[in-house]
Amino acid sequence: MSKQKEYPNHPVIVIGGGLAGLSLALHLADRGIKVTILAKTELGEGSTRYAQGGIAAVLTEEDSFQSHISDTHIAGAGLCQDEAVEFVIRHAPDSIKWLIDRGVSFSLSDELGENEYHLTQEGGHSHRRIIHAADATGEAVERTLEQIVRRHPKITLLENHIAIDLITSHKLGKPGDNRVLGVYVHDIEGNRTVTLPCQHMVLATGGASKVYLYTSNPDTSTGDGIAMAWRAGCRVANMEFVQFHPTCLYHPHAKSFLISEAVRGEGGKLLLADGTRFMTKYDERAELAPRDIVARTIDFEMKRGGHDCVFLDISHKPAEFIHKHFPTISARCLEFGLDMTKQPVPVVPAAHYTCGGVITDLKGQSDISNLYAVGETSYTGLHGANRLASNSLLECLVFAQSAAGQIAERISEFENIPPLPGWDESQVTDPDERIVVSHNWDELRRCMWDYVGIVRTDKRLARALNRILLLKDEIREFYSNFRISNDLIELRNLVQVAELTVRCAMMRKESRGLHTTRDYPESDESTPALESILTPDSSLV
Ligand code: FAD
Ligand code: SIN
Repeated sequence: MSKQKEYPNHPVIVIGGGLAGLSLALHLADRGIKVTILAKTELGEGSTRYAQGGIAAVLTEEDSFQSHISDTHIAGAGLCQDEAVEFVIRHAPDSIKWLIDRGVSFSLSDELGENEYHLTQEGGHSHRRIIHAADATGEAVERTLEQIVRRHPKITLLENHIAIDLITSHKLGKPGDNRVLGVYVHDIEGNRTVTLPCQHMVLATGGASKVYLYTSNPDTSTGDGIAMAWRAGCRVANMEFVQFHPTCLYHPHAKSFLISEAVRGEGGKLLLADGTRFMTKYDERAELAPRDIVARTIDFEMKRGGHDCVFLDISHKPAEFIHKHFPTISARCLEFGLDMTKQPVPVVPAAHYTCGGVITDLKGQSDISNLYAVGETSYTGLHGANRLASNSLLECLVFAQSAAGQIAERISEFENIPPLPGWDESQVTDPDERIVVSHNWDELRRCMWDYVGIVRTDKRLARALNRILLLKDEIREFYSNFRISNDLIELRNLVQVAELTVRCAMMRKESRGLHTTRDYPESDESTPALESILTPDSSLV
């Protein structure tokens, strides 16, 4: 018989191995605090690894904090929280330095000499301020931190371990403050479910864009942290603000491969099939307008003309320039027979980023004591109604550091973590019909794409909610009766985030940022801009 894995009894558990999780774990481990990182796949698989454009920060004399702050507010359509914006943008240069000190090799500028970094431009930014590693910034960042984490003596890594649900004092019927105590985790390779207790827990599980049929995100983005936090009693906000990236490669086998906004930043133009440039008609910033505007315009043009896609053209730039700045993107396009140096490439919008999430303060603290949310899973107030390009990796870095500071201050060497109840499988059997899970995955994602997409109506949202609630019941029944699997755990979370997205969308009786509805086509300027906050109560959970 093979030996069962021994689990460490560490005071801090970080769920997620993207930029948020890895940087937070390193900040703690470097202070001598023992941390366990869980990742539901191999470390490195998550949105971070696929990030292309780069990280926004004020890094030159010509730029200013005020300008980055103002660009963030403009992109966020009046819904960004001042405190969060100031906090992140003023800490950005230090966060970039932290990455450079850890060995991340950002691209250098030929023109500016050896030690100057090349800064690229993206939509909504009034300055060149995106530091990047060619067009594969996420890969450079994730791999560098992963190497450090793998050999850090204070860090234990549990890959292929998927968190299912949080254990809190209220769930155990204890009175008083609701506090996180641990988590149920499915060991995928060992095919067993274990209970991991802790003093402090961090949700760094990424976004929820897999709830849509077409997405730029990897399969890990199933909103697990948001759903787990919600079920445990945390409020969530602004889930209606789903960011659709304007330019994903349109090809049957490309699985929504992203064509970075930096391509437009470096001069790429959007064209209709007949070669007409159209963005200039809609916004004076043309292709470099904020993402919500560009995605909505593409959607409008595709529907108006009955087109399957539009085209992105940078072929007027020298081939050498394109290969140097976009080696990954140009190589991937070539695999599909598309030569960016010679022709426009077909693109469509796809779900890209979850602006809403678990509500936190500036230290990443959620509504539950000792439970933190950091990165795309959180709602910090930075992004408002639409995230400014390349502010996401930045948010991961800044909040990872502040949450780590708070945890380090509060951790207690002497605290005993009490034993927690084990996972109960006594009432379940092996699933009889796995088709229920795969069918419901497809149905849910299509329903969200068709009814809760770039342009919404009250009627479509009501239709979506009806179907989502039926699916939720069916999934709940399946979950109660059958042994769990990855797909089932993720589907249960996806249906929860779908419901939260639709409920937030129904609350917003205006069009703002990423939420456009035909029933209320204007922003409601008569009332102060409000967040859409959902509070768990028994009727919704
Ligand atoms: P992720 O990197 O997604 O990591 C989530 C981690 O959580 C993974 O390790 C996953 O395995 C783990 N996990 C999830 N659920 C569970 C569970 N139940 N149990 C255990 N582990 C779990 N932003 C920018 O700022 N600049 C860019 O250039 C940029 N480009 C992008 C390009 C693409 C193609 C995509 C998809 C996104 C891009 N973004 C960019 C957005 C940015 O990459 C993400 O918002 C950011 O990386 C999120 O980091 P994270 O650590 O929060 O989550
Ligand atoms: C991109 O490179 O276009 C993605 C940037 C981002 O999501 O911030």
